[in-house]
Amino acid sequence: MALPKILWLALLGRIALGTVTDPTKLDACPGYKVTHAKSTASSLSADLILAGGACNVFGKDVSQLKLDVTYETNPSSERYEVPESVFPRPNSDHSATSRNADIRFNYTTSPFAFSIYRASTSEVLFSTASHPIIFEPQYLRVKTNLPSNANIYGLGEHTDTFRLPTHNYTRTMWSRDAYGVPSGTNLYGNHPVYFEHRTTGTHGVLLLNSNGMDIKIDDTGGTTLEYNVIGGILDFYFLSGSETDPTEVSRQYAEIVGKPAEVPYWSLGLHQCRFGYNNYIEVAGVISNYSAAQIPLETMWTDIDYMQRRKIFTVDPDYFPMPRMREIVSYLHSHDQRYVLMTDPAVAYLPDEGYGTLDRGTAEDIWLKAANGSTFLSIVWPGVTVFPDWFHPKAQEYWSKEFEMFYNPQTGIDIDGAWIDMNEPASFCTYPCDDPFQQARDQNLPPPRSTLPPDPNAPIFQTSSLRKRAIDHTGDDLQNPPYLINNAAATLSDRTAYTDAKHANGLIEYDTHNLYGTMMSVATHNAMLARRPGLRTLVITRSTFAGAGAKVGKWLGDNLSDWEHYRQSIAGILGMAGVYQVPMVGADICGFGEPLFDWSKSAFADNRAMLSRAGYNRDIHNQDTSISQEFYRWPSVAQAARNVLDIRYRLMDYIYTAMHQAHIDGSPVLEPLWYNYPNDPATFAIDLQFFYGKSILVSPVTDENSTSVSAYFPKDSFYDFQTLAPYAGQGSIVTLDNINFTSIPVHIRGGVVLPLREKGAMTTTELRKTDFEFVVAPGTDGSASGSLYIDDGISITPKTSTSVQMSFKNNHLTVSGKFGFPTSVKVARVRFLSVSRLPNSVKLNGKEVKKASIEHDGSREVLTVEIGVPLKQGFDLGFA
Ligand code: NOJ
Repeated sequence: MALPKILWLALLGRIALGTVTDPTKLDACPGYKVTHAKSTASSLSADLILAGGACNVFGKDVSQLKLDVTYETNPSSERYEVPESVFPRPNSDHSATSRNADIRFNYTTSPFAFSIYRASTSEVLFSTASHPIIFEPQYLRVKTNLPSNANIYGLGEHTDTFRLPTHNYTRTMWSRDAYGVPSGTNLYGNHPVYFEHRTTGTHGVLLLNSNGMDIKIDDTGGTTLEYNVIGGILDFYFLSGSETDPTEVSRQYAEIVGKPAEVPYWSLGLHQCRFGYNNYIEVAGVISNYSAAQIPLETMWTDIDYMQRRKIFTVDPDYFPMPRMREIVSYLHSHDQRYVLMTDPAVAYLPDEGYGTLDRGTAEDIWLKAANGSTFLSIVWPGVTVFPDWFHPKAQEYWSKEFEMFYNPQTGIDIDGAWIDMNEPASFCTYPCDDPFQQARDQNLPPPRSTLPPDPNAPIFQTSSLRKRAIDHTGDDLQNPPYLINNAAATLSDRTAYTDAKHANGLIEYDTHNLYGTMMSVATHNAMLARRPGLRTLVITRSTFAGAGAKVGKWLGDNLSDWEHYRQSIAGILGMAGVYQVPMVGADICGFGEPLFDWSKSAFADNRAMLSRAGYNRDIHNQDTSISQEFYRWPSVAQAARNVLDIRYRLMDYIYTAMHQAHIDGSPVLEPLWYNYPNDPATFAIDLQFFYGKSILVSPVTDENSTSVSAYFPKDSFYDFQTLAPYAGQGSIVTLDNINFTSIPVHIRGGVVLPLREKGAMTTTELRKTDFEFVVAPGTDGSASGSLYIDDGISITPKTSTSVQMSFKNNHLTVSGKFGFPTSVKVARVRFLSVSRLPNSVKLNGKEVKKASIEHDGSREVLTVEIGVPLKQGFDLGFA
């Protein structure tokens, strides 16, 4: 029986009102002491009371708290907590007890302090000792000691280094439309989880809380990590991880937040987008130009440009007329290509214009409400707008219906995937947004009408999971709480929904703001599923909360076209795919906003970016005011694209197999180097190189006009991906030079059998008809293994599938498994690497292979055997 690996601890409290005093007094606060402790084999519950005179730093100290510690189970309280409907809690594991858990909880009663330690070694992983817990209505503090120079990763979304700084560093969680993705600021999404790596093991800590917070890491007087949260409860999940395998903590985290959604095979192909295509002729032209340039374009995207006056679920009758849009979709589909359109959450507030999308929502009364009960008005692209309230019981039905009507295959635009944006929710109204109409006029956005009609017939339907929540915010300052998080916007309500805006179930944005993007994601995923039941969806969102990857993918927002942002995007993608369980992630290539780069004049003709992601979503995208940057516009860029897309497409089944594994058990699809070399401290801070899947090491050039890169090669066996020649890593930094602008340094890590397609293709449909070529790259012990998963690439529950295991030992490759998926493709050949001489004999299933089918390249040490075995059966191939 597996040992319980997750320890849940929650501190719940009530009471309100407060005053502001000096925050430097935090460590002098009295903390709490334990009374009425009750423990069983699998849980501990206790009351905590203030252990001395209240310190009232950011409000009045809550005098009594309830402590629940469980080896996996569910919380409940009268204070706000992340709703189950948004973040379903993991199932209880009743076999878990304090005695058999990998990590355990220890506490002192007065003052109350707790620590989490690894059972096998007694090593303390988290400890609040000497840092009193503070629990006030709008301020919660928990602080833990860390080892000096701690290796902390996560706490996204951010554009800081993958290994977080440990000096005077603050990570703020508050969803924000963050043009230019400035470092050190709060960005679009919130994933309050970190992994800590030590050479003795890797563990994880999730604080499941959606309120605004600052997490501070500092090494002044001992390294510490401190949560400063402005609401909710302290709902911690401690993940034991493993002493030897860092990826174990990823799988445990996936147990809590949900395993990543399985993506359609086609979604791994190349995607072209931009903001600023002026009309359908331009869009059609881009599609034709890609095919003329022989660059494989799988999916064309269109931004808000297609909308009439930027109203969602409309097309501009003059610039993007419906018949022409339908023609484009038919053209794409008949060429095995796809189409994705943008849908924003904000609905234009035009109550007198017969705008169906608005009117239907108003009839159901599904809009987010202001504190006084009126519809909350804001400003987004079309001018004055309203926001759907995803907590409203009718919101899903409304959203699915709008999708069904507008994206109807018979009468509308038959999209294959959805792109959702501005869902922080973003607003262009600066706080106080007392007159959105004036601000909309000032910003030259389409002029709005003046009033929202009252809706006396608004149904209020409530189910048990959506019951009105009586969270007591009496006395709370919702606009300027006593503890101000380090939000880069002017105030919490600036350029977004107000913190006092109300949801249908009584919750307010103060608590749920960070959930808006994830809730829109789920609603959109469901709407897409309703359009094509049984088929996997592709929904790409900008704002996410912990758990979003179980339904959707994400792109990293409005980065800039410069090298600094390119470098940061690698760490950003590593965070999403390697830590937060959002493997379908990408960043705009080669940057959304300024400077207006001419790729042909720089190494920024950056094919290298094309492998710098885990899954793929919208690849190429930029701002309407930037120059066009489709890959075919410069000969060098077109060549770079063809080269690197050839690599990407040949690797597509390898990564599809990794994505499938992630969906099964949360194994990461993209890995920092230290996941594979946990005992090599030289790898801990590397975030410009990464593993694509478990075995492809990518070392991109990341400096302007450079044709070389300094790359770290751990002490291990590697092979050049292009030449297949061995490359022995020495545990040192080496300079890879003579890298021209159209290539990218990629190495195979020894120990793997790679299932490559023998060549790339113009579409993924064509690729799936292409034969395989297995590459056997032995590790330092001479063995290798690999796997290959194939199914129809689109069904949520495929009827048939093929799961192949490849194993190589003693010069002998065994391929076995289940071959259920009908396909006519073959394993055309096998390439064995690191074979120094032509063998005397090569046998396939015990029979000698003809000399004509065997080739040996002595300088690269590659033995190639043509076999042509249909992918319907296993085989044995050995040489001596
Ligand atoms: C902001 C998004 O981040 C960007 O990708 C998009 O092009 C614009 N909104 C316009 O829709």
